[in-house]
Amino acid sequence: MRVLFTGGSGKAGRHVVAYLAAQGHRVLNFDRVPLGLDGVHDLIGDITDAGQVYSAMRSHAGYDEMDTGTGAQLFDAVVHFAAVPRHGMMPDTETYRVNVMGSYNVLEAALKMGIRKVIVASSETTYGVCFSDGVVDPKVLPLEEDYDIDPMDSYGMSKKVNEVTARSFQRRFGADVYALRIGNVIEPHEYATLFPPLKGDPGLRRRITFSYIDARDLGQIVDLCLKKDGLGFQVFNAANDTNAVPQPNAELLAQFFPKVPLSRPVGEHEGLLSNRKIREVLGFKEEHDWRKYVP
Ligand SMILES: NC(=O)c1ccc[n+]([C@@H]2O[C@H](COP(=O)([O-])OP(=O)(O)OC[C@H]3O[C@@H](n4cnc5c(N)ncnc54)[C@H](O)[C@@H]3O)[C@@H](O)[C@H]2O)c1
Repeated sequence: MRVLFTGGSGKAGRHVVAYLAAQGHRVLNFDRVPLGLDGVHDLIGDITDAGQVYSAMRSHAGYDEMDTGTGAQLFDAVVHFAAVPRHGMMPDTETYRVNVMGSYNVLEAALKMGIRKVIVASSETTYGVCFSDGVVDPKVLPLEEDYDIDPMDSYGMSKKVNEVTARSFQRRFGADVYALRIGNVIEPHEYATLFPPLKGDPGLRRRITFSYIDARDLGQIVDLCLKKDGLGFQVFNAANDTNAVPQPNAELLAQFFPKVPLSRPVGEHEGLLSNRKIREVLGFKEEHDWRKYVP
């Protein structure tokens, strides 16, 4: 597929773009800064500028495409990752402005111009635990997609609003719009430093309910979303199969979430940010269990 990818130069995007290119997709990266990956053209632009976003939807994905003489073509799909990616990085107002207006622009331009598949990066922070003020319990565990999401921070709010916007546009245009509630993204080089301390102190990951998503497995999830048509509006948690800490759930739940009810029994190490839906609906098969990389 020809894919317009926003935010492909970032931490998650660079691995997902590489994965998609390796699967044979033709990717154009739309970002404020270049990625510089062979075979992936960089189009420098700003998602908060609607004109630029509209213009990008129908572009050459590389100079070689000019040789066809058929003019710049509409993309088959848009993957939208560009954002202010967490709370506390920019003033709350700016986080909200960039994420909400940027996503509105991408969704409107893609769907009004006739693109039939849009995948947007939402976040596990919509569950309202991660960036909450104070130590907050989830209402229920494991975290699944039908949860009544209620973040209190501006980043989480922006992602919740983006899911609402995505759903409304899907309803109006009938295309497929899938939102991924992405867990904490781990790049290959990060296992060596981030994971060993968790053995002695799993509480470091309480706010993200001990979850993670390998950046390459996230690539697989996005690719599966590109290949799966006809689902309308969907929300999918994007997480690996198990928690990122070695302690079993019985211990974690008793120590960190003693008052939180379970909606169903959970496996010994099953991720508390549940990835059951991507496994059952998309056929996701984890390739990068953290245990492969951490002695
Ligand atoms: N990293 C995580 O753990 C994590 C977890 C959950 C969700 N997410 C979401 O995944 C997506 C990617 O996150 P990331 O960690 O790679 O973030 P990142 O900051 O590393 O990458 C974001 C990219 O978007 C670009 N960008 C930002 N504002 C832009 C604008 N106005 N116009 C064009 N490009 C712009 C940046 O230049 C950057 O390359 C984001 O939507 C983020 O909210 C990330």
